[in-house]
Amino acid sequence: MVRELEKIGVLIVSYGARGAAMADAIHQSLEYKTELYVVDKQRNPLNVKLAVEHVVVEDLNIRDIVRFATRRQHKIDFALVGPEKPIIAGLRDAMERETTIPVICPTKQCAIEGSKVAQRNLFAQSIPSANPRYRVFDPAENKNEVKTRQAVYAWLTELGNGAVVKPDAPAAGKGVGVWGDHFSNREELFQHFLANLQYGKVIIEAKLDGEESSFHCLCDGKNLVRLPETRDYKRAFEGDRGPNTGGMGSYSSEKMVLPFLTQKDQEEELAIVNRIFNEMKKGIDVNELRGFPFYTAFIHTSDGPKILENNSRPGDPEILNILHLLKDDFANICYKVIEGNLTRVAFHRNASVAVYKAPPSYGGYRDVFPEKIASEVVDTPLNLEKIAQLEKKTRGKIRVFPAAVELRDDGSYPLSSRSVAVVAVGDTIAHAREQAFLGIDAIEGGALWSRRDIAHETHIQRSILHMDELRQKTIGGT
Ligand code: GLY
Repeated sequence: MVRELEKIGVLIVSYGARGAAMADAIHQSLEYKTELYVVDKQRNPLNVKLAVEHVVVEDLNIRDIVRFATRRQHKIDFALVGPEKPIIAGLRDAMERETTIPVICPTKQCAIEGSKVAQRNLFAQSIPSANPRYRVFDPAENKNEVKTRQAVYAWLTELGNGAVVKPDAPAAGKGVGVWGDHFSNREELFQHFLANLQYGKVIIEAKLDGEESSFHCLCDGKNLVRLPETRDYKRAFEGDRGPNTGGMGSYSSEKMVLPFLTQKDQEEELAIVNRIFNEMKKGIDVNELRGFPFYTAFIHTSDGPKILENNSRPGDPEILNILHLLKDDFANICYKVIEGNLTRVAFHRNASVAVYKAPPSYGGYRDVFPEKIASEVVDTPLNLEKIAQLEKKTRGKIRVFPAAVELRDDGSYPLSSRSVAVVAVGDTIAHAREQAFLGIDAIEGGALWSRRDIAHETHIQRSILHMDELRQKTIGGT
C-alpha cells in the first residue's frame, strides 16, 4: 500500500540560485508532500514553477515578508531564509513574534554577519589566533583628518603596508579594499578608508597570504553539524584576476577534504568555530543560533587557519554543492533543525562543481572583454531547453538554477547580477567539472559568460603547491 505523505507548507525567502536550490531541495522531498510559498527578489522562473504562491518583494524588506507570511501562517509549517539582508534586519525575530512560523536562520543578535567589527571582537574573545592583526577606526574618534591620516599610516607601517580595509556593515560605502588589488599606495588606501569612514567604523587588518576555504554548518540550537567543505572562486576572471564577485563557482571533493587541505586543517576549522559557538551561547537562548550561523570563510596561512569573515547564512554558490550531495531528505533535516535534534547529516561521497554564468555587465566583464560580447544577443531571453534535456538525461546529476533571471511573458531574461548556476556531481572533481561545463555550455542567450578555470586541475594544483610552500614556512619558522 502506498503511504499517504504528510502535507507541509514551507516559506522560502529567496535571492538568487541559492534560494532556488533551497526551494528545489524541499520540493524534492520524498517524505513530505510539500507546498512552497516563495518570497523572491524577482520572478525567478524555477521558484515561480515550484511555488503554490510566489510573491516579489524587491528589496526583501522584513515588514512585507512578515505580512505575506501572517496571512498564510495556518498553511506554513516553517520558513527558510537564504539572503543576508532580511536575516541581519531581524526577520526571524519579527516572524516568530508576529506569527506561529518557526524560522530557520539566526536571530538578529546572533547574525554576526551584520557587523565585521563585532565579529573581530567576538573572535578576539573566543579564539584570538583566528584573527589577523586588526585595528578598528571609529568615526567619532577620527574627526580630524590630519591626525587620522597619521594614525592610519602608523598602522600601515606596522603592517608593512599589506592591509585590507573593511567597512563594519556589509555593502556600506565602497566595500572591502585590498592592498595590491584596489590600491597601490597609502594615499589611495586612505581615500578608500575615508570614503567608508563616513558610514561608520572601519577595520584595517593585515592582508594574509594563503588558500581559502568555505566552512558551513547547520545548527539546531544545540549541535553544530558540519557540512562538506567547499572552495569558492570570488574573483571575476581566470587566474583569480579582476574584481571580487559574489562567487563565480565552487567545488567540493569526493574525499570530503579539499585537495589543498589536510584532515587536520579541517579539524582545526571545526575547533575554531566550536570555540566561537561556545562563546556566543553564553547568555542567550541557544535556539537563537538555529540555521546556518557559521558560513565561515577561512584562509589557511603559514600561521594556521584564520577567519576572513563569518556569514550568518548559506554561501552562494557553495550551498548548491552541499544540497546536491545530500543523501538525507532536506525537509526532514529542516524539521530536525527546528526540533533541536539534528546530530548528523548524510552525504553522497561524490565531488561537486558549481559554476555561474553572468551577464556582460557583471564583474566588469564588458569593460575588460568588449570584443567577446556579441551585442545583438545581449537582450535576448535565455534558452534553457538544452540544459533541461541534460538534467533529464543525467537524471539530475547536472542541475540548473536560475539566479538573477526574471520570468516575463515572452521568456526568462537575465538581469544585472549572476544569472544562472549549474551544479554537477561526479566521481572526482575533474568528472564533476566536465559535467558542470557541459551544462554551462548548453545554456544559450543573454551573451552570458563564466569563469572557465573553476575547479580546473591547474588551479587546484596551484593551491596545493601554495599550501606546500606555506607549510614549509611554518616548519622553517620564517
Ligand atoms: N560565495 C560568497 C558568498 O556567498 O558570500
